[in-house]
Amino acid sequence: MPSTTSGTTALHTALLAHDLKPGDEVITSPFTFIASANSILYVGARPVFIDIDPLTFNMDPNQIESAITPRTRAIMPVHLFGLSCEMASIMAIAEKYGLLVIEDACQSHGARYGDKAVGSFGTGAFSLYPTKNITSAEGGMITTDDDTLAESCRVIRQHGMRRRYYHDELGFNFRMTDVHAAIGLEQLKKLNKFNQARRTNAAFLDSHLRGVQTPYVPQGCQHVYHQYTVRVAGGRRDALLEHLTKNGVGTGVSYPVPIHKQAYSTQELGYNNTLPEAERAAAEVLSLPVHPGLGASDLETIVAVVNEFTA
Ligand SMILES: Cc1ncc(COP(=O)(O)O)c(C=O)c1O
Repeated sequence: MPSTTSGTTALHTALLAHDLKPGDEVITSPFTFIASANSILYVGARPVFIDIDPLTFNMDPNQIESAITPRTRAIMPVHLFGLSCEMASIMAIAEKYGLLVIEDACQSHGARYGDKAVGSFGTGAFSLYPTKNITSAEGGMITTDDDTLAESCRVIRQHGMRRRYYHDELGFNFRMTDVHAAIGLEQLKKLNKFNQARRTNAAFLDSHLRGVQTPYVPQGCQHVYHQYTVRVAGGRRDALLEHLTKNGVGTGVSYPVPIHKQAYSTQELGYNNTLPEAERAAAEVLSLPVHPGLGASDLETIVAVVNEFTA
């Protein structure tokens, strides 16, 4: 499990270790934090965005095969908000076409698909940024069961150095400090407890919220609720956002603009496609507090404020 300075550098290092290059294409989701796509751009490859499943907000595996070209090298599933992607279909397609799978698990520490944890299907990348389910203050991790790949990651993150001051390849300074590692190791011991608290909070919200679409959890998946994201139909999302803010409930929109519609993507990279479900989600989603620090009265306030609006 090589550590790095961030989730972004974990993704970047994993892509370099797999020798992703200019001209390669990586199929991924447009409905995610920009770092997923940026890591692909950093190695000179091109993100190919496919639409999402409107229920899970994750990449729709039915869209993958038609996006494959002779340049496709990898699929990057992003396990968004704490929920695993549909990994059985994704792994079957990857195997059929000989594609790499690099999982962006930056939001999904401990999430499970069947009996497996995310980050254990392909090469995984995790973020330890302070808002994540566990943190090292800033940091990232790469997960793999391939010792050679792990060693390549360690070399890349340390200026391409296998032997002290001998450099066989171009590398970077993506080293995690010992101080960050010490914090991360202590946090790791608390991951299950934190995730259980998030699940308990989410269950309360699921059963008490009215008038919004609560998170969908496919059978066999264990959600870890990095975000508790609801869908607000009828063009009322921004009004609910304002109502929550006015009443002191912390809220936010992840993500208001899908990556293929960001100014940099359209103006600099020439993306001009339409992905209706990603665009609809960007207009309709809103996240509510779900973190382990919430008490019973906080949860009741969140429910009361939402239900007052939707009544
Ligand atoms: C889906 C996703 N990918 C990648 C990253 C990048 O992680 P970091 O902020 O640690 O660089 C994040 C972090 O917010 C993320 O949410």
